[in-house]
Amino acid sequence: MKLAATGRAVRLAWSKRSGTAIGARLRVEARPQQQLRFQSTVVLQTPIIEHNSKTRSLEIDGKSHAIDEWTNVPPSILSFLPRNLHLRPSHPVSITRQVIERSFPSPTYTHYNDIHPIVTVAQNFDSLGFPQDHPGRSRTDTYYINKDTVLRTHTSAHEAEIFRDNKSEGYTISADVYRRDAIDRSHYPVFHQMEGSRMWDRRKVPGGDIVKAVWADLERLPKHDLEVEDPNPTIHPERNPLQGEHHSSEEVEAIAAHLKRSLEGMVVELFSRAKKAAVAAGNTNADVMEPLKVRWVEAYFPFTSPSYELEVFWQGDWLEILGCGVTKQELLINAGVPDQLGWAFGVGLERVAMLLFSIPDIRLFWSKDPRFLSQFSTMENINTFVPFSRHPSCYKDVSFWLRSSSSSAGGGLKANAQDFHENDVMEVVRDIGGDLVEDVKLTDEFTHPVSGRRSLCYRINYRSLERTLTNEEANELHNSVRERLVKKLGVELR
Ligand code: PHE
Repeated sequence: MKLAATGRAVRLAWSKRSGTAIGARLRVEARPQQQLRFQSTVVLQTPIIEHNSKTRSLEIDGKSHAIDEWTNVPPSILSFLPRNLHLRPSHPVSITRQVIERSFPSPTYTHYNDIHPIVTVAQNFDSLGFPQDHPGRSRTDTYYINKDTVLRTHTSAHEAEIFRDNKSEGYTISADVYRRDAIDRSHYPVFHQMEGSRMWDRRKVPGGDIVKAVWADLERLPKHDLEVEDPNPTIHPERNPLQGEHHSSEEVEAIAAHLKRSLEGMVVELFSRAKKAAVAAGNTNADVMEPLKVRWVEAYFPFTSPSYELEVFWQGDWLEILGCGVTKQELLINAGVPDQLGWAFGVGLERVAMLLFSIPDIRLFWSKDPRFLSQFSTMENINTFVPFSRHPSCYKDVSFWLRSSSSSAGGGLKANAQDFHENDVMEVVRDIGGDLVEDVKLTDEFTHPVSGRRSLCYRINYRSLERTLTNEEANELHNSVRERLVKKLGVELR
C-alpha cells in the first residue's frame, strides 16, 4: 500500500545483511525506541517481501525475524507499527479509548496500552483454542512475519499472558491490530481494539461464593435507563453452551449479567457523548433524538462460552460493536490461575469512533492533514467531524482470468480457481494505491462454458480524501495494479 509514487511520505528501501546500505532505511514517523529496519541481500523493486531465501530476515524494533515461505507482511504494513493512534492524546481513536476506560476504572482494572504488535502464532491462536483449520489462521487473512510469528489480529492475543501475570481483578488492553481484508470505507488493514476482562477468584471471594460476589459487584455498577433487547437465554445447550465441567449455570448467569451491565454502561457513556455532540452541531434529526437502543445477540468465539455480540441501533441501522463472553476455563487453567473465572470482551475502536464523531471513512484516522487532526481535542469535548471538501471518484476496472492450473513459482501467491483469495487482490491494490483507494468491488464474475476458466472484474474507486486526483495519476496507479496482479497472482488480464 502507499508507495512514494502515490504521494505518501514513507520511503521504503532495503539494506544488506552486512550492513552496507544499498537503499535507504524504511523511514517512519519516529517513536522513541521504535525503529524499523529491513535486512535483505537483494534490493527489491516492490515492497512485497520475497519468500525464496532462508537467509533473509526482517529486523523490527531491534529484533530479528527470519523470513520464510509464510512471510506475507509488506513493509508498507510494517510502517504502521510506530503510529500508535490510540496513544496520541487528541486523536479520535485515543479519545474513544479514554472514554471507554472510564467505564473500567483502576485499581480494579489495569490499563495496558503499549504491548508490541508482533506476537507468536501460539499467542494469537493456540493459547485461545483456535482449531488448526480456523480460517483466521490462513495467510489470506493474517499477516505472517514467518510461520511462527504474526502481527496480532486481535487484542485477545494477550489474554493468556495477562491472566498469568495476574496483577489485578480486571484489565483493558488497547492496541493496534492487523488483518488482511476488503477495501471499503469501514475496513482498513490496521485498526485498534480494546479488550477488557474481569475475573473473580474462588479462593478470594467471601465464603467462596462466586455467585453472591458477582451479584454484589453488579449492584455497585452504575444503573442506566437504556432500552435493551435481550431475547435469548443466557445459556443455550446447543447454540451457546455452558462450560458444564467448570461452571454452574448460576455462576454463568451472574457473570453474564455483570458483563452485560458493564458493557451497557460503556455504551451509555459513549453514546450520550455522541448525542451531545450531534445536538451541539445542530443535528436534531429524529434518529439522533430517538432513545438509544441496544440488543444482545448470540455469538461464537473459540475462547469464550457462552458468547454474545452487542449491537447498537444508530441512525437507522443495527451495528455490531463488540464481541464478548465467559472466558474458557482451559485458558485460565493453562495460565496458572485455575481458581479464577469471569468474562472478556473486545471492541473495535474505529467502529465506535466513527459513530462517536460522525467520521465517514476509516482512512481518515490515518490522515496527517491538520484539517482532520485539528478538529479533535479532549474527551470532555466530543465534537462532530466537519468533512472537508469531497473530491471526485475515479473508477477504473480490471478484468482477468484466473489460472487454470496450480503451477506456481517460488512459493509466491497462486491465483488458480481453487486457492484464489480476494484478499490477495485487495493487498495488491492497497500496496500500490494506499489511501488513494476508497473501495474495491467485485462487479462481474463468470466461468467460461468450454474451458471452465474463471474470470473476475473488479472496480477500483480511486479517490483521495485530501485532494483531487488527476486522471493521469489514477491511470498510472491502475497500470501498476494491473502489472502487479499479473506478477504476484499470475492472472491473465483481459
Ligand atoms: N477477539 C475477538 C475479535 O477480535 C473479540 C472478543 C474478545 C470476543 C474477547 C470475546 C472475548 O473478534
